[in-house]
Order: sequence, then structure tokens, then C-alpha cells
Amino acid sequence: MSNSEPGFSTLAIHAGAQPDPTTGARATPIYQTTSFVFEDTDHAASLFGLKAFGNIYTRIMNPTQAVLEERIAALEGGTAALATGSGHGAQLLVFHTIMQPGDNFIAANKLYGGSINQFGHAFKSFDWHVRWCDPSDLDSVESQIDDRTRAIFIESLANPGGTFVDIKAFADIAHKHGIPLIVDNTMASPYLVRPIEHGADLVVHSLTKFIGGHGNSMGGVIVDGGTFDWTASGNYPMLSEPRPEYGGIVLHETFGNFAFAIACRVLGLRDFGPAISPFNAFLILTGVETLPLRMQRHCDNTLEVASWIKNHDKVAWVSYSGLEDDDNHALMKAYSPKGAGAVFTFGLKGGYEAGVKFVEALEIFSHLANIGDTRSLVIHPASTTHRQLSPEQQVAAGAGSDVVRLSIGIEDVADIIGDLSQALDKA
Ligand SMILES: Cc1ncc(COP(=O)(O)O)c(C=O)c1O
Repeated sequence: MSNSEPGFSTLAIHAGAQPDPTTGARATPIYQTTSFVFEDTDHAASLFGLKAFGNIYTRIMNPTQAVLEERIAALEGGTAALATGSGHGAQLLVFHTIMQPGDNFIAANKLYGGSINQFGHAFKSFDWHVRWCDPSDLDSVESQIDDRTRAIFIESLANPGGTFVDIKAFADIAHKHGIPLIVDNTMASPYLVRPIEHGADLVVHSLTKFIGGHGNSMGGVIVDGGTFDWTASGNYPMLSEPRPEYGGIVLHETFGNFAFAIACRVLGLRDFGPAISPFNAFLILTGVETLPLRMQRHCDNTLEVASWIKNHDKVAWVSYSGLEDDDNHALMKAYSPKGAGAVFTFGLKGGYEAGVKFVEALEIFSHLANIGDTRSLVIHPASTTHRQLSPEQQVAAGAGSDVVRLSIGIEDVADIIGDLSQALDKA
């Protein structure tokens, strides 16, 4: 065995996995069980008291989930990870661990529409308050931070706008104010961008997208960067104060640089329950093995498609940071030199009506509310994923009424372009 750090593709296949100790099975088995038998009563007591680490009940931990967690932590360069039943479940657990009633956090206004809803509406009932910022206006970010601000949240590559965000600049602002930077890395995946290397403290994903990659399983994950001092300010009591239900232990003292992942598991996941099923963890693990191959193909296909569609006479504009003349190209080159991802938006000269005809005429593309599938996908965000937002919020999020979003799959690029071409003729 060589001493050098394994490369990304090797980690994508091997990290976290061993041949099954009981059967020798090489692929990670699906441990389809709700619960695990204790060795004796002492063992049970030490598991429940966090004195020993082990499986109790699949809502909290399961061996198939554990392999997925270790693999994503390795791919992101984090200390630990926690898998959840969806990306939104991951976000809920992150903020539950960070926020107290009355606290606020700063979030970029260029986010997936569901996150804008979750933060702006659902979180209000916990008395957690979001303050929106324009990620291209860093002064406006800093001016909103006050003594109740507990975090900054951005997407490394924004959905649906397809723009890269200056992670390092956000990390510097967050750290200057003693708060963590949380990055949703769903659209880029760690194959393109590893936010922890640029200063992020926590990374979240919807595993439902590129990481699972086949449009068949919901999942989410929280990756602990192990970088943030949760005790210094006293503003993160879940991590810095004794936990009565665990015999008074202080999670940050006991678990050090993976305390955040532990807190999300033993407090948030335990009590809110958005666990991933072992079967979904297995399917997503299988997807992860080909992430580098798929992601590169997604990027290569998308660059060809965006370059082609930009010159089509029915197309008013294209926003894809992989194009050399795109405003976001320099940031893309700095953060994601292997490619600009698979999702981009464009507008049709015929506006909304042309957009409807175009979407209905497509044959290879599927019209649905997802991204990051092997298949090419299309949607009109303003009437679907971003429908609940105000017109101003839609435009700010890159989802105005004329915008069509494509998620380019890994089919033959000539077939993808052929389908777009025949549908544009009909638009
Ligand atoms: C960037 C981004 N983050 C988070 C989510 C939420 O993930 P999930 O649908 O798995 O809950 C999505 C879903 O589309 C997304 O695109």
C-alpha cells in the first residue's frame, strides 16, 4: 500500500468501505434493520450515554449510512459527516444545532427556491430569522451582521442561476465576526469544488442530485469541516454547554473537531428524525463511485450545449459561467477549473409563451423538478421550484419569468443538441 493520499476517484470508490466482516461481501451491504442487539446491559448503557460509539437504532445510525457518511466526509475533506433523508433535512439539523430562538443568520439570495422558503417561512416558527444578501455585494453582507448573527449560508454554485460564489471572501467575513460559513455544495459536488479548502466550516448537500446522480433516491448530508471553535464565543450552547440527557458532557470538549456532526446526530437527528433509509444510502453510495466520471461528462456536455444554444437566433441570452464571455467566468476559473457544472439558464426571445411551447416539444429532456440526473432535464423555475417567491425574489434568485433551466445529462451530446434544436424550431 502506498503512503500517498489516495486521489479523488479512489476515495469515491473505497473511502469508508471494507469487505463485510461477517460475510466477506465486497459491495457495502444494505443493513435493512431498524435496530441492533446489545452485547449486554452495560454495553447498552454505554451506547446510550455516548460513552461508546455503536449502532442502536437506524434513526440515529446504521452501518450502510456510516459508509456513505465516511465517504462523503473524505471527498469533501471534512472530519465527519451525517447523512439525512433529504437535503432539507440536513439544513434543518444544521440550523437546529446553531440557532437559539431570536438568533439570525445571513443567507445569499441566490439559492434553491426551496431553501428560500425553508429559511424565510418555516424557520420563522422556530424564531430563527434569515437576512438576505446579494452574494456579489460583500459590503452588504457584513453590514447585516449583528450580535445575534450565528452563521452565513451560501451555495458554492447557485441554483438555478449557475453562478459561482466567492467562498473565501465569505469565509473571511464570517471568521472576522466569529461565526461559521455554511456552504451548500449540491450543484458543484466535491468533484468540482471543495468548500472546506476555501475556508467553509460546514458543507451541506442534497445527495438527491449529482452525488447520487441517477434521479432515484432522496438524501442529504452535513459535513463537519472540524475547523470552527464552537466554544469560544459562548453563542453555540448546544456544543459548549453540558447536555443533561448525556450525563452532563460538553459535546465540543468530548468530541473535538467532529463535535458538530455528533451534535447533529445525537440531538437533531435523534429528536427530529429525518434519517436516510439504508436502501437509499446504498443506492447513493453506488452513485458516488462514478461521481468523477459523470461530473466531468456533465460539464463537457453542458459547455458544448451552452456554446451552441447561445448562437441560436431564438435565444435572447444564456447564463453559463463556463462561457468565456460570462460575467462569472473568472470566479468559475478560480474555484472550479474542471468545469462549470451541468445546470444553466437561458431566455427565449418569445418570452413565456415560447418557453411553454419549447418545454412541451422536447423529447429526450424530461420536464420535472430535479437536477443532477444522468438524464437531461428541463424546467421553468418561475412557475415551479421558485413559484412561492415574489417576482423580486425570483429575479434576485436568477429565476425570472422568462428563464428556462436546463440540467444537462450524460447522454450523447449530439442527441441533446438535436432535441433542443427541434424544440426551438417549434417554439
Ligand atoms: C441546491 C439545493 N440545495 C438543497 C436542495 C434540497 O434538497 P432535497 O430536495 O434533497 O431536500 C435542493 C433541491 O433541489 C437544491 O437544489
